[in-house]
Amino acid sequence: MKTFFHVSDIGDLRKALDEALEVKANPFAWKHLGTDKTIMLVFFNSSLRTRLSSQKAALNLGMNPIVLNIGQDSWKLETEMGVVMDGDKSEHLREAIPVMASYCDIIGVRSFAGLSDREADYNETVLSQFIRYSGKPVISLESATVHPCQAFADLITIEEHRTKDRPKVVLSWAPHPKALPQAVPNSFAEWMNAADVELVITHPHGYELDPRFVGNAKVEYDQMKALEGADFVYAKNWSCPGVTNPGDYGKILSKDMGWTIDERHMAVTDNAFFMHCLPVRRNMIVSDAVIDSPRSLVIPEAANREISAQVVMKRMLESL
Ligand code: CP
Repeated sequence: MKTFFHVSDIGDLRKALDEALEVKANPFAWKHLGTDKTIMLVFFNSSLRTRLSSQKAALNLGMNPIVLNIGQDSWKLETEMGVVMDGDKSEHLREAIPVMASYCDIIGVRSFAGLSDREADYNETVLSQFIRYSGKPVISLESATVHPCQAFADLITIEEHRTKDRPKVVLSWAPHPKALPQAVPNSFAEWMNAADVELVITHPHGYELDPRFVGNAKVEYDQMKALEGADFVYAKNWSCPGVTNPGDYGKILSKDMGWTIDERHMAVTDNAFFMHCLPVRRNMIVSDAVIDSPRSLVIPEAANREISAQVVMKRMLESL
């Protein structure tokens, strides 16, 4: 595996899930694969889960992880080509990427969407430079439009908890005080489309996700109707994807607290499990009662981030 970006990169999903369960049962069985290998984990943005789970996964595989927080541990990096570098950015990605790549065997990159230029974000301008100039396998640790390590962990969690052959999974928009990227809902929708689930997406008008991620999912604007009979409720905020109105890209169009997932919403489901990628704003995205209930999967879901990362790194090490 040379890149981990889209669900297609992981190949057969059934095989990937079986491998994830094997890795979870015996995390140190492939420690020999990473001997004398180094992974560089490059963060342009904050992280708790991705940073720790990636380091732990690398250590499980016997690799040396190096974490670099851009702008804190390093020079501030310029990411745009052709600019006069007379500002506060001391180094360009064009040099920094091959230099970082010369010290490692695999690179993971976190680089959020800027949310001002839809074309730049949806062209993945930062991550694509890492793929182009590093010459190394590259993992998206949440880039402008996708968060595949999260979506894979979400799928593993659903696999572990489902009681039906084809569970109903509802991705619900929920309010948030800040404008957030669409990477998590994009990847969640993409991975659920590839899995054996019935996917329903619900959000207020204007929050339509990019059609390439929505795929065959049903879009239902009535949140309560969407949640009826759900087996899994996946809550997430995202800013306007600019699909119906490009001028609104990255904007907050609604803060309607009626969309906050609470007991009233969960009551119409089929005793659904609650999921969220974390970090979560309590009583904005989800009520205390729901996230603290026995049906909340947020902690096992976060724990599975180690497993999804380890499967991806294992596959990359095997193909070096
Ligand atoms: N879910 C997730 O990616 O968490 P972090 O932003 O803390 O890494």
